[in-house]
Amino acid sequence: MTGSDALLTTLRSVVTDGHVLTDHDAMAGYLTDWTGRWTGSADAVVRPRTTDEVAAIVSACADAGATLWLQGGNTGLVGGSVPPAAADNPAPRVVLSTSRMVDIDEVDTVGRCVGVQAGATIDQIDRAAGECGLAFPVDLASRESATAGGVVATNAGGVRMIRHGNTRRQVLGIEAVLADGRVLRRWTSLVKDNVGYDLPGLLAGSEGTLAVITRVLFRLVASPAETVVTVAAVRHVEDIFTLLDTMAERGLTVEAAEIMTEAGLDLVHDHGVRRPVAATAPFYTLIEVSGTGDIEEVVVGVLDEADVVDGVLEPGPARDLWASREQHTEAISRSSVTPVVKLDVSVPIRALPEALAELGAVADLVDHPCRPILFGHVGDGNIHVNLLDVPEDRVEELTGRVFGIVAANGGSISAEHGIGRAKVPWTGLGRSEVDLAAMRAIKAALDPDGRFNPGVIFG
Ligand code: FAD
Ligand code: MLT
Ligand code: ZN
Repeated sequence: MTGSDALLTTLRSVVTDGHVLTDHDAMAGYLTDWTGRWTGSADAVVRPRTTDEVAAIVSACADAGATLWLQGGNTGLVGGSVPPAAADNPAPRVVLSTSRMVDIDEVDTVGRCVGVQAGATIDQIDRAAGECGLAFPVDLASRESATAGGVVATNAGGVRMIRHGNTRRQVLGIEAVLADGRVLRRWTSLVKDNVGYDLPGLLAGSEGTLAVITRVLFRLVASPAETVVTVAAVRHVEDIFTLLDTMAERGLTVEAAEIMTEAGLDLVHDHGVRRPVAATAPFYTLIEVSGTGDIEEVVVGVLDEADVVDGVLEPGPARDLWASREQHTEAISRSSVTPVVKLDVSVPIRALPEALAELGAVADLVDHPCRPILFGHVGDGNIHVNLLDVPEDRVEELTGRVFGIVAANGGSISAEHGIGRAKVPWTGLGRSEVDLAAMRAIKAALDPDGRFNPGVIFG
């Protein structure tokens, strides 16, 4: 019996009823990421139901010297959730999927929080909160697949970031299985609790390199009573910030502030989504606001006074207006002849106009035709740079060009998606040697054998 066979026997004794997959076809969906760029191989995909089962799987993998790739909804965009292609290293490889860990506890309406298992989706958590008049402050277009564990592990941003902050800010408590199989549990709804290091905060953004997140205690927020969504066509990026400032001055709360371009809207329209405004302009913004009184009238007033080319508005949730923004990822992915080069950067707000112009022209810097499409969370200075039709042998060059522009503008090479495997060669653009060494020391302390997600963040 090989080491791998012995491990499979142990895994099958831990997770029964056919949830240890070894058949190639059954495993396929777990071995390729959402973008189609990253695909790999594994000896097994294991789908535990409980924290105890996760702990037993991790212990069995430790005993067998196996490596583990941690996976939630597999919507990550940086290649962090799937193993690489088979390597010389003979160590058994296991994908641990949280797809069956979907319990959601009763919502605590007084403490405004909810405990969930790691595989619960963002949509499921928000629905549970909504039934109690509350809302889950993390929201992304991948809401029906992205999981609690995934958004915490990536410290996801999303469309409500401008209002409520990133996912780390929503984590009150966490339960996680460490690399030796022990269970770490910090579970308190206390908002003030300063006993030592902020381990839940450390696991947020750890991209599955430090521990398996099994449960999360999330903060919830009040649902805004009334919202209005507007899409405006504008000549300059600065016009968007003028709109946002004026709305805030008039007492409105900005719930979301997004940016799109003509090329992106055209593509989304080609894929069946109605254009929100007829006029054409270099930029479009989608802004959602909340407030009291006749907020629709206030928004109309702001649009009338502003120098916008065109504008429409609807009372929230205005899913059709949102579709023009949220369908970008799908439409872009389906339009590129090669897997899209998806880069997710941020720059200081003051540098945004210049950086957008430079990023939009990045294709001119290389002697290969590729189509750049930019969109993103403008209020956070976060631009998603999507490069379509890039041949594989030009990916590194173009990525380097984009990151060069970002670094020169004082920005970050990863605003929200993380490093994964896609951006490992460029971490030095965002972190000093000392900083990277401190991160490696944390990895070595918590996962000394490099069992979890090898190759992610550190290469
Ligand atoms: P996965 O893709 O399965 O994994 C992502 C990373 O987390 C991997 O490194 C994995 O190993 C790790 N991980 C997953 N579960 C666990 C766990 N239980 N314990 C430890 N590590 C774990 N991202 C944003 O930030 N903002 C957006 O607005 C946004 N919009 C998106 C829209 C679309 C249409 C798509 C396809 C993606 C979008 N994303 C966005 C990216 C993605 O949805 C997020 O990164 C999300 O957080 C990933 O969740 P997941 O459950 O799919 O995680
Ligand atoms: C988004 O904001 O829609 C995303 O982060 C996904 C993407 O970059 O495509
Ligand atoms: Zn985003």
